[in-house]
Amino acid sequence: MSFSILGTGSCTPKRKVTNAELCKFLDTSDEWIFTRTGIKERRVLTSENLIELSKVACENAISDAGITGEEIDMIICSTVRGDFVSPSMSCIIAKDVNPTCRYFYDMNMGCCGFISALDLAVSCFKAGKVKNVLVVCAESMTRLCDWEDRSSCVLFGDAVAAVVLGVGDSMLFTKLSVYPNSEHLNIPACTGNSPYIEERITDSYLTMNGQEVYKFAVSSITKEANEALGELKLSPNDISYYLMHQANMRIVEAVRNRLNQSEEKFPCNMERYGNTSSASIPLLLDELNKSNTFNKGDKLLFGAFGAGLATGVCVLEWCK
Ligand code: ACO
Repeated sequence: MSFSILGTGSCTPKRKVTNAELCKFLDTSDEWIFTRTGIKERRVLTSENLIELSKVACENAISDAGITGEEIDMIICSTVRGDFVSPSMSCIIAKDVNPTCRYFYDMNMGCCGFISALDLAVSCFKAGKVKNVLVVCAESMTRLCDWEDRSSCVLFGDAVAAVVLGVGDSMLFTKLSVYPNSEHLNIPACTGNSPYIEERITDSYLTMNGQEVYKFAVSSITKEANEALGELKLSPNDISYYLMHQANMRIVEAVRNRLNQSEEKFPCNMERYGNTSSASIPLLLDELNKSNTFNKGDKLLFGAFGAGLATGVCVLEWCK
């Protein structure tokens, strides 16, 4: 026994920022950004916060699942940067969803957060601890970017996406892997103002060696996807849709070519949202669910990569 996805929801900030707007203060161009990444625009938090966006995304997911908030007994929130360092986002979200909910976890697994949350949920369903789980991926990457660094700030956007899981048999395979390396991609933590600190860190900005992450992403995701298919005795053709972390169109294309699959099987929305870290796969999932793209019984493969460096792959059957 594992779980089935009962419902999906999402909410993105109102403010749309196009590549052309970035050219006003960065030495860049729409042509460079689009051809290197596939991104045209992203949503950016202004006066809103993740808590407000999460409320809407969770309401959507719970309503799509056809249950009520009181039936949720676990909340897992994946976030690199919640609105507070403490309390956790999952505790804050519980206030609106179900204050009598029994379990709350925040996880900071970067772009692999959604698949990590699903992996944790499998264990909790198997242990009989839960009947309905709400997974919320709430990301504010634009608040972690150095907006003077054209090589990274053009890539990211903000979003919240949520899914409701219920008892079922739809998750067929999950696997997380880590290839420890904090050099190629990191966001240092602020050190505070302790008088004992010799080197104070006041700016908490993302830095990334794009080329190294690119190479890691293409090789590891292809390898992990093939391993997942091998375990399940499936061929790449047996998967109806591949939902990849929406970091870069060229990465998705490289993986697609290595698996020898058609473009239609690798839907993408990074053109409109950029890289929204762990929210990217569930945001895409919500769009595809709401546009009735999936049929019951479709096999979906999710693949993510990012800080760690880590990967996450899972295969599930669409049961809605
Ligand atoms: N506009 C114009 N020129 C730029 C920009 C920009 N925004 N950014 C970099 N350049 C320049 C560089 O300075 C460099 O110039 P130079 O040759 O004169 O030195 C040139 O463009 C090429 O730079 P590269 O870094 O080699 O460009 P590349 O083709 O590798 O693309 C990119 C960079 C888009 C970051 C790519 O490496 C990439 O996508 N890597 C993967 C990143 C990723 O997927 N991260 C997600 C995982 S982490 C997470 O999701 C939290």
